[in-house]
Amino acid sequence: MNKQDKLKSAEDFAKQRMAAFDSGHDWYHIERVRKIATYINDQEKLCDPYTLDIAVVLHDTADSKFNKDNQENGYKTLEDFLREAGLDDIKDQIISAIRNVSFSKKKNFGNENDPLLFVLQDADRLDAIGAIGIARAFNYGGFRNNPIYIPEPETENKAPSTIGHFYDKLLKLKDLMNTETGKRLAEERHLILERFLKEFFKEWKFGAK
Ligand code: ADP
Ligand code: NI
Repeated sequence: MNKQDKLKSAEDFAKQRMAAFDSGHDWYHIERVRKIATYINDQEKLCDPYTLDIAVVLHDTADSKFNKDNQENGYKTLEDFLREAGLDDIKDQIISAIRNVSFSKKKNFGNENDPLLFVLQDADRLDAIGAIGIARAFNYGGFRNNPIYIPEPETENKAPSTIGHFYDKLLKLKDLMNTETGKRLAEERHLILERFLKEFFKEWKFGAK
């Protein structure tokens, strides 16, 4: 297979693996992250564009939330795919970047100082903030049947709310950007989160004296 065919087979593999995911993690998420990652890398020339493309396309195929049985099975399937597709030369770098990309991962794997990881992670995180990030958060909350907001003060074992997720994660992402371009894009999208929350609480407190 030539490079284009390998990329096409990675796209087919990802589409098939992600078909059952929630719509915040669908193929359109991949297309958005791909555009952002390419933009960052065009600006900063940090990593090989082809390897980045493959990494973006495959980055959510082993997500733990969608491999209920065992996340390691997700990585095993991904590794088998990369071998069968003739992508042995970049297999380890791709798997290492994908294992390290998640905000919520508990452990570190492989090379954490990889420019491929930096670009992929920034692009993935940028799609979690701004107007699209807000849409994805409420979509995910609905998928989990979580409340949009719980106004009562923090209590032990409080059920998660989507507004809570803004404070747990989304508002922190701006300061976790790796690349200069990522930081610049995150500033804009962070402001959208802040404006949204301001309006949200204004409406929530409607009529309060
Ligand atoms: P990561 O891969 O960085 O761990 P996730 O897969 O947890 O990210 O999140 C994917 C998308 O789902 C993001 O847009 C994120 O904001 C949203 N999301 C994850 N957890 C929650 C939650 N508890 N409430 C609302 N949205 C969530
Ligand atoms: Ni993603």
